[in-house]
Amino acid sequence: MSADETVAVVAATHLLEERWGLDARALGEGSLARAVRARVASSGLDPSAWAALLTSRTTEADALIEAVIVPETMLFRDGSAFGALGEIAGARLMDASAERPVRVLSAACSTGEEAFSIAIALLAHGLPAEAIRVVAVDVSARAIAAARSGRCSSSALRGHIPGWAERWLTRVPGGVVIAPEVLATIDFRVGNLMDPLPAGPWDAVLCRNVLVYLVPAARARLLERIRAHLAPGAPLFVGHAEVAALLDLGWRHQRRYGPWALEPVPVSAPPAERPAGRRAGTPAPAARSSIVVAPPRAPAPAPRAAAAASVGSAPAAPLPARLDEAVALAESGERERAIALLEEVVRVDRENVAAHALLGVLHATGGDETAARNALRRALYLDPGHAESRAQLALLDRPRSRGR
Ligand SMILES: C[S@@+](CC[C@H](N)C(=O)[O-])C[C@H]1O[C@@H](n2cnc3c(N)ncnc32)[C@H](O)[C@@H]1O
Repeated sequence: MSADETVAVVAATHLLEERWGLDARALGEGSLARAVRARVASSGLDPSAWAALLTSRTTEADALIEAVIVPETMLFRDGSAFGALGEIAGARLMDASAERPVRVLSAACSTGEEAFSIAIALLAHGLPAEAIRVVAVDVSARAIAAARSGRCSSSALRGHIPGWAERWLTRVPGGVVIAPEVLATIDFRVGNLMDPLPAGPWDAVLCRNVLVYLVPAARARLLERIRAHLAPGAPLFVGHAEVAALLDLGWRHQRRYGPWALEPVPVSAPPAERPAGRRAGTPAPAARSSIVVAPPRAPAPAPRAAAAASVGSAPAAPLPARLDEAVALAESGERERAIALLEEVVRVDRENVAAHALLGVLHATGGDETAARNALRRALYLDPGHAESRAQLALLDRPRSRGR
């Protein structure tokens, strides 16, 4: 890289951190350099002149952010959150004194799949559309435009879609169309999570798979704002790779809503004890979530939960099914069993990137950093573009702050 190009990358790195709280290392320094090179080329300027333009012209900064964000998402990603929302909907239906809609914030909603899943879960669990308000924010104007169209690509369907959601999804060639009733409950906004958040109180906040991309100070600032806007007892859902970092920042597991749900530690509570040898907090042993992704009025074993129950009794299951079972175990708090199953998967399929990546996340949440690094490096070796593994590794490499 020429000295001029370095100047441009450094300018981009500073701007991303200053304006959006983003950490260039977590985004991938190689990807950032490629994005900067492409922006410089399309501006027709030399790299130094482009660096000056970047800080003075909003449109250039906007083009840069669109080029570097990681919009990866899917419908019903990490399913336990949506079962938990069903519980919240059920509680609201029982509460005759409730005067306002159930309010859920999707912070960093990307192309909308998360917000659609929230609204569908609330509708499926019996709340009428007028009792639901979802606000969904993302910095990417392109992603928000796609979300407002109410259409998702077929990659949105690659996870487990609960049967009860199908009523609001119409499969079309190349993707899926979201029912207008769902769209009507969601307010999509282009916004920066470093600015003040839409005012609460929020009955749940989903801020998933974005905290890993933020520098520690930005992450702490955002979490303080979320804390200030959460209704009493309301959960914050984060991504798999993000739980461990939050346990060091004054948050604790909220087990009734599953393994990725957290709540602020009350200011007067004594600091949580950490098991010896563990740097980050760890889920309490064998605390199984009671959440199943199924509607309350037609209880049926959820496919994922059923899969989890079958682990060990069906060793001949095909690899994708075993990977799915491992995800289900992880989501229901059975970390050790999920790790054992994933190790089985990678013994048979040494190049299974998803299995290595999930192993890395689970080892990290358990405090075994060496095993976490090994697994994440293996995932990145096999797929250098695997954004979550890169972000999780960057998270492990950072010095931890203690307390809040
Ligand atoms: C990996 S996606 C996560 C989408 C969704 N939450 C999920 O878990 O499926 C990360 C999103 O964070 C958004 N993002 C990154 N920094 C942001 C910021 N400062 N403000 C708002 N959105 C941001 C990106 O545009 C991207 O769409």
